[in-house]
Amino acid sequence: MSSDNEQKLPNTLNASPTKNFFVEMLTRDIELEDAILDLLDNCVDGIQRTIKNHSPSDNPYENFWAKITFSSEGFTIEDNCGGIPINVARDYAFRMGRPDNNIEGDLYTIGTYGIGMKRSIFKMGRASEVISKTEEDSFKVTINPEWLTNDRDWDLPIEFINPSLNENGTSIKITALHQSIIDAFSSPKSILDNSLIAKISHYYSYIIHKGFTVSINGVKVTPEPLNLLWDGAARIGQQNTIAPYLYESEKNGVDIKLAIGFYRPTASEEEVNDEMEGNRRTSETAGWTIVCNDRVVLYCDKTRLTGWGEEKVPSYHPQFIAISGVVYFRSPDARKLPITTTKRGIDASSDIYLYVKNFMREGLRNFTSYTNKWKANPVEEKERASQAQPIAPNELFAQIPDDKWTKVRSKTPKSETKPERKYLPSLPMPESKNGEASKKSIRFSRTPKEIKIVAEYLFEDPEREPSDVGNECFEKVLREAT
Ligand SMILES: Nc1ncnc2c1ncn2[C@@H]1O[C@H](COP(=O)(O)OP(=O)(O)OP(=O)(O)O)[C@@H](O)[C@H]1O
Ligand SMILES: [Mg+2]
Repeated sequence: MSSDNEQKLPNTLNASPTKNFFVEMLTRDIELEDAILDLLDNCVDGIQRTIKNHSPSDNPYENFWAKITFSSEGFTIEDNCGGIPINVARDYAFRMGRPDNNIEGDLYTIGTYGIGMKRSIFKMGRASEVISKTEEDSFKVTINPEWLTNDRDWDLPIEFINPSLNENGTSIKITALHQSIIDAFSSPKSILDNSLIAKISHYYSYIIHKGFTVSINGVKVTPEPLNLLWDGAARIGQQNTIAPYLYESEKNGVDIKLAIGFYRPTASEEEVNDEMEGNRRTSETAGWTIVCNDRVVLYCDKTRLTGWGEEKVPSYHPQFIAISGVVYFRSPDARKLPITTTKRGIDASSDIYLYVKNFMREGLRNFTSYTNKWKANPVEEKERASQAQPIAPNELFAQIPDDKWTKVRSKTPKSETKPERKYLPSLPMPESKNGEASKKSIRFSRTPKEIKIVAEYLFEDPEREPSDVGNECFEKVLREAT
């Protein structure tokens, strides 16, 4: 039986999205800090667009900056990274989602989904002004609170203006902040400032190191670049040499480089104990860092995610405090990079990452086994390792002569433009069997006060490590006795 009602109904119904859906859904799973980093990602993508036609240099990010300021009144990010081109603004910059994923072709950018900027704005407030100045024009796009409540009107007003920015760049100002954001921005200022500065110095360390300047409320962020120890070019390929393990290849349009080694001297016994008791936190820079298109997506990881505690690799322990590694993935197509949708994490199930993890584990095994083998001879190890010098991992690749690399496969498939190869250092090992075969450890405990007295007496330095003090006591008596 058909009712009157049914006959009056139109034959389509409304399935259009509501703005509230976007605002609520998009912002739910992102932390405020990550939303701010999303805006910074866009600045860096702007640089890639700007420098695309320039020859590669050592400091491609030089002279580019982004300034972030916030208070209970509002949030602003301003940059000189080239601005949003008008066609990008018209076609998709303000839309929710990218109409065509590879719209800009061969750029080493990280933007993928076309939601970052909008999500960050909605996360913080209900009103916003985006100003862009490019070589060609200057314009302003305004989002006001009324627009957010009107589900029929999806157009935003754009105004062409006299340039209000000094350099080509973008300024995003967000106001009508949500109460939770006002609280975060006004509660003891230094909390959010410091945590943002720490995150930015980790996640953007490579970019900042290559010249980009970022400031938070006037404070400049300094990078924390990683260096690895090696005995220098002359000893490469020789036995008993301290050098990082390296791997490089190109898979499916992604350039891969991996380096792992020691970034500092091996931990002394006291340091390991202190670390286990939670009295020291020097472990922070140990572990794996993963970099995609110059952005750090995983920082100093020490879990199974990066191969620790898997397939004959021991789990992380403070005795491995000196081991640090980095993997660089680079591709002009950001979708091929093994990153999560937030771009602040690794997609651990991606084929490319699972493949590279085999080499990460091989590298780890080299250095964990070195550490284990030297455990009984810390003094000799320290002496041997102190000859090694730090070098930036990126520079290392060029320093290893072609004939010192090992081919991973005998033939390079046609689909790959670069040979897949690795450099396996032959690390020094303690002498065994003949000679001074097995050594025994001597351990004893003394009060810190007494250790200081002896340290002052032996070294004129009361702060010397207790293991050095104990060892020197023994050496001194041994010299006298023999
Ligand atoms: N500060 C900026 N400088 C230059 N271009 C910018 C800037 N901010 C945004 N854009 C451009 O506006 C567009 C939309 O940015 P949005 O962050 O929303 O999406 P996306 O970066 O393409 O993807 P994702 O959601 O993965 O971040 C991008 O092309 C982005 O590069
Ligand atoms: Mg983006």
